[in-house]
Amino acid sequence: MNVPQHIAIILDGNGRWAKSKGMPRNYGHAQGSKNVERICEEAWRLGIKYLTVYAFSTENWSRPKNEVDALMTLLRNYMKTCLKTAAKNDMKIRVIGDIEPLDENIKSRIKELEEATVNNGGLNFTIALNYGSRDEITRAVKKIAEDCREGKINPDSITEKTVNDYLDTHDIPDPDLMIRTSGEQRLSNYLLWQLAYSEFYFTDVPWPAFTKEELIKAIEEYNHRHRRFGGVEEEK
Ligand code: IPE
Ligand code: IPE
Ligand code: MG
Repeated sequence: MNVPQHIAIILDGNGRWAKSKGMPRNYGHAQGSKNVERICEEAWRLGIKYLTVYAFSTENWSRPKNEVDALMTLLRNYMKTCLKTAAKNDMKIRVIGDIEPLDENIKSRIKELEEATVNNGGLNFTIALNYGSRDEITRAVKKIAEDCREGKINPDSITEKTVNDYLDTHDIPDPDLMIRTSGEQRLSNYLLWQLAYSEFYFTDVPWPAFTKEELIKAIEEYNHRHRRFGGVEEEK
């Protein structure tokens, strides 16, 4: 089986999954975060090198305050757990998104996590937090404009690689496969630039119920895709 190097996941459907079990939405988020831990381990075992998950979008602030507060508390606690699992599994953690508006406690935990794992050689695990692709591109454009003004770069020399280098994901290869759970078939502002040539896989399974078997199904489906990148396939 040809295993994708990088899988990006929109882990959706946590709230609806909980509701279907007669539980509050935050129970779904808690179980969803536990599932992230499990899938990280499975992904590495299957030979995946990069896993990027969408944890909180720039649009998710529009949810009711109690849900946002509960999600922030969950993320804070998750960072602590993640520090342990990263050490155990040799994972390298990165956070993408605009972390500036997050509270100091979360910010210092992110810094701690990234610094503690920077030299690890296992799974490259990236968490998209207060992430929005349009926001990421806007921040990159601003920074490029500033660097032009200061004479650090010449506008005539800007290439696709320059733009890529200013994105939060500058040191991560583009995803080969994008998975969205829970039946929704949209990007919701996730990695618009980076997913230009990725294969998309949608499943009705909500994220907390997404197992290793579901991951294998997605990879098998990926194996049936023909990636052409605008070219033509060689005749066999
Ligand atoms: C996705 O699960 C995770 C976050 C946005 C934090 P949802 O909370 O969107 O779950 P549903 O889609 O409402 O079921
Ligand atoms: C996308 O899910 C964001 C995350 C999974 C963090 P949403 O549930 O917020 O997306 P929409 O609102 O259904 O598009
Ligand atoms: Mg959702």
